[in-house]
This record gives sequence, C-alpha cells and structure tokens, in this order.
Amino acid sequence: MAEMHTAAVVLAAGKGTRMKTELPKVLHKLAGRPMIAHVLANLAPLACERIVVVIGPGMEGIAAAVAPHATTLQAEPLGTGHAVLAARAALQGFAGDVLIVYGDCPFISSATIGRLLARRRAADHPAVVVLGMRPADPAQYGRLVVGADGMLQAIVEYRDANAEQRAITLCNSGVMAIDGRRLFALLDRVGNANAKGEYYLTDIVAIARGDGAACTVVEAPADELIGINSRAELAAAEAILQNRLRAQAMENGATLIDPQTVFFSFDTRLGRDVVVGPNVVFGPGVEVADDAEIKAFCHLEGAKVAAGAAIGPFARLRPGTIVGERARIGNFVEAKNANLGPGAKANHLTYLGDAVVGAGANVGAGTITANYDGFNKHKTEIGADASIGSNSVLVAPVKVGRGAIVGAGSVITQSVSADALALGRGRQTEKPGWAAKFRESKGTIGKGTVVRHGDKAFRVTITRPDGTVLPTGPSTVRIAPAKPALAPAPASVEPSPPARASNGTAPKTSKPAPKATPVVKSKKPAESKKPASPKGRR
Ligand code: UD1
Ligand code: CA
Repeated sequence: MAEMHTAAVVLAAGKGTRMKTELPKVLHKLAGRPMIAHVLANLAPLACERIVVVIGPGMEGIAAAVAPHATTLQAEPLGTGHAVLAARAALQGFAGDVLIVYGDCPFISSATIGRLLARRRAADHPAVVVLGMRPADPAQYGRLVVGADGMLQAIVEYRDANAEQRAITLCNSGVMAIDGRRLFALLDRVGNANAKGEYYLTDIVAIARGDGAACTVVEAPADELIGINSRAELAAAEAILQNRLRAQAMENGATLIDPQTVFFSFDTRLGRDVVVGPNVVFGPGVEVADDAEIKAFCHLEGAKVAAGAAIGPFARLRPGTIVGERARIGNFVEAKNANLGPGAKANHLTYLGDAVVGAGANVGAGTITANYDGFNKHKTEIGADASIGSNSVLVAPVKVGRGAIVGAGSVITQSVSADALALGRGRQTEKPGWAAKFRESKGTIGKGTVVRHGDKAFRVTITRPDGTVLPTGPSTVRIAPAKPALAPAPASVEPSPPARASNGTAPKTSKPAPKATPVVKSKKPAESKKPASPKGRR
C-alpha cells in the first residue's frame, strides 16, 4: 500500500519581504500561536510519515517552534520550487504522496487536505493535484489554467500572466499533492526565466503535462486558503480566526455577551453555560469549566478556572493560576502561579503570586504576596478558611495557618499558626485635642470649627462665593482673650444669631478675605449643632 503513504513539505524559508519583519514571517502569531504551528496542527490528523519544514538561514526560531518536526535549510530563497528541492535528502527513498503546504497558509483544514490526497489516490492517479480557490479578490495569486477536458494545464504566476490569464478567477492556493516518485525529477527541470527570476514550484504542472501526465484541481473555500504576506493580511486573518473561535465557543454552549469584543487563543476551552462579558482577552492555555463567569475587561493566560467560579471585572490571571470551584477573583486582582481552593475569595485590589490559598479563605482588599526578593521567587501559603485583613503584605516565604486571621494593614514576615490572630503593624496611639491645637498653632480655622471667645462659642461656616454653605464638622478651638485675632486665616468670624445684625462685635481676622475666597461666618451657637455622624465622614 505504498500509495497510502504521505510525507509533507512545509515551505517557510521565504524572507517575508512584504511583512517588513525581523521575525520570520511564519512565526507571527494568529490567535496566540505561530502561523506555522497552525499549519502543522492541521497536518497532524493526516498521520504523515515524514514532515519536513524548509527554513532559511538565521531561522533557528522556526526550528524551535516546529520541533520535533525536522527542518532543512534552503540556503538562498530562490523560489518555491527551489525550496522543495531542499527537502530532497529528507525525502530520500520516499515513494508515497508528497504534500506541499506553505507555512504562510494557516487555515487549511485537515478535511480539505484529506480531499486533496483522496483525489491523488483516485483511479486515474493524477501526478499533481493542486488545491484551487476562488477568492473574492484574486489579487496576485497564481492563476490555474484549466483545459477543455477539465484537467489542469498550467499555473501562471500573476506577474507573468497576460490579461486573459489574469481574468481567470480560479487561483492557486499553493497546496499540492504530488506523486513522490516523480516530484524531484520534475523539479530538476524547473527554470527561472520568469518575472521574479525564481524557481517556481508551480511550473511542475506544465512540465508534467508536457510528459503526458495528468494534473488536476480540487477546489476548496477561499477563506481556508488565504496566504499571509503583509501585516494587513495578518490582521485580516486574525479577524477571521477570532470570528471562528467565537462561533465555536457559542456553539459549544458559552454565552458571549458581546462576541466581537472577546479575543480567544487557538486553544481556549470554555465549558457549558460559561458567561463571558465584554472586552475579555484569552491568551494561550486557558480552560474555563461549566457555569463559571468571566466578567468584563479580564485578561487570562495559562489559567484554569473551575466550575462556578467568577472572575473580574478587571482581573488578570497569569500563567499557572488555578481558581477552584465557586472561588472568586474580583476587580483589580492579579494572580500568577496561584492556586485558590474551592470557595476562596480575593475580591479587590490584590496581587497573588506563587501562592496557595486554601478553600474558603478570604483575602482582603489590597493584599499583596511579596514573592520576589530581587533574585528568587518565594511561596505564600494561606490555609483553608483563613482571613487576611485588608492591605496586608505577606512576605514570602510565609505560611498562614488554617483558620488564622491576619489583622488589616499587617506586614507578615513569619508564619502564622492555625486559628491565631497575627498583627504586624504599629500600635495605634491617640493624643486627644492634638489636632485642634495644631490648627490653632497655625492660626487657621477649618470648616465647622467651633471658635470660643470668653464664654461665647461660634460655629464657623464657610460660604462659597455662590452663597451655598459647606457642611460643618466638630473641631473646637479656643481663642485666648489675649489673642483675639486669628491672624492669617482668610476669613471673618462673627457671633450669631443674628449674624448680620451683630456684625462688628465678633473678633475679626486681621485681613479681609480676598474676593474669591469663601467668607467664613458663624451661623449658630455650636451647642445647638450635632457633630457629623462618623459614618458620613468616612
Ligand atoms: C505562491 C504561489 C502562488 C500562489 C500563492 C498562494 C509560487 C511560485 N507561487 O505565491 O501561485 O497563488 O503562493 O499563497 O509558488 N518560500 C520558501 N523559499 C523560497 C520562496 C518561498 O520557502 O525561496 C516559502 C515562503 O516562506 C512561503 C511559501 O514558500 O511560506 C510561499 O512563498 P511566497 O513568496 O509567499 O509565494 P507567493 O508569492 O505568495
Ligand atoms: Ca504567500
């Protein structure tokens, strides 16, 4: 069954001139994966016996990206035919079917390649089967010249085509299946007398026809066969792929609230009833299990989200993050290499790096795991049901035991025992009246200040230039009889009631208030006014 054997040659040695890039063209990514890796993934189901990727000098990056597949060097990019010749040694002794695919043609489906091979294996055994397409804009693709007998006569490159040939809408995708026993003999006869001065692979069709061998075309949808030569084509291809991935995600049972704003990687896996909000980006390696929700504006990469968990809005999950069942990652939380157990929560403004958070633990707002000492990364372990107070820093390596509580604002540098309370912060002290005295020493009056002069008390109100009054607070200052003037305050203080009638009897500031500055006036005796509630002052 020699004819059932398949080898593939993937061409990737072109310079990618139109891309204007230092990076080899086929390493540019689509949906988070290099173009050439898409091609190889599409070839995978065909179980090729040999696959060889033709690369150019300085393209070691491609060799690394395609490993374990073999690469072979085309020392100079003298054309697609010349490139296939570089695979001669790798295909030594191979007598099956040789598939030629281009590294810059990433969307070709395995099914389509299968159809191409099937045609090559049909009873009439055409020597060359070319995959053709009819793109909306045939642009600069090579044109397939088909004879009255329906067989392929030649492929004419756009640059070499006459007006009549350019009018042909059937184009060369570049993909071919060729009789491996004839391939190199045909290529040896290809010349370079053409517009580009290159050895065109496409010329083997006319040569084979000249030998009396049959060549034919299999047509496939153009959107599978686009070749990417420029940044604009790269972006267009990305858009096509994203639309496919969105459709697939919805087909598989996920809700995308605004599909056009969700960006997937080639390998993103979403379970059933997953809800994805607007503006979410999935980098490579993300799995989201059933019933989980990814709220708006999240960025996930290399992360696993278990069933029923909720992420975001505005969360970033970096590689190595595992979010357990029904766990919760809230807004402005970044997690990297962090494993949150079932029901664990980190709801606000937190960095979890190299951390394990036990089931049911709660990580308060503003918590940071300080995992990096400038040289090495260290691990933080938070036990099940532990509670980390807001704005704590856990300086790794450190462990917080099961059920322990860390007081808000703590810097934890030593491990905390299970069920203990750990406080790692300065003790609070209070100096009664200090603030008011401080203000007095500065000679300023704030809004709501109660001014005492002798046995009279005044509450200061501040009137804005538009006549509205600022709300008041409870501070108290005394004006010593010896110093009646509150020297530099840009305000006037008057007794009340009634404010205007008693004008002149109250102590005055030494300077009149500048025009634009609010005028400070007493409104009522202080005793009649309640202090603002503590809640309202938060
Ligand atoms: C090629 C076809 C054209 C077809 C189009 C489809 C030829 C002569 N022309 O044109 O008929 O419509 O693809 O996309 O084949 N490569 C090498 N070494 C080289 C030159 C190219 O490895 O010396 C590789 C490139 O890296 C690329 C592929 O071959 O992966 C195609 O080369 P490219 O220059 O893009 O060919 P096109 O001009 O697009
Ligand atoms: Ca191309």
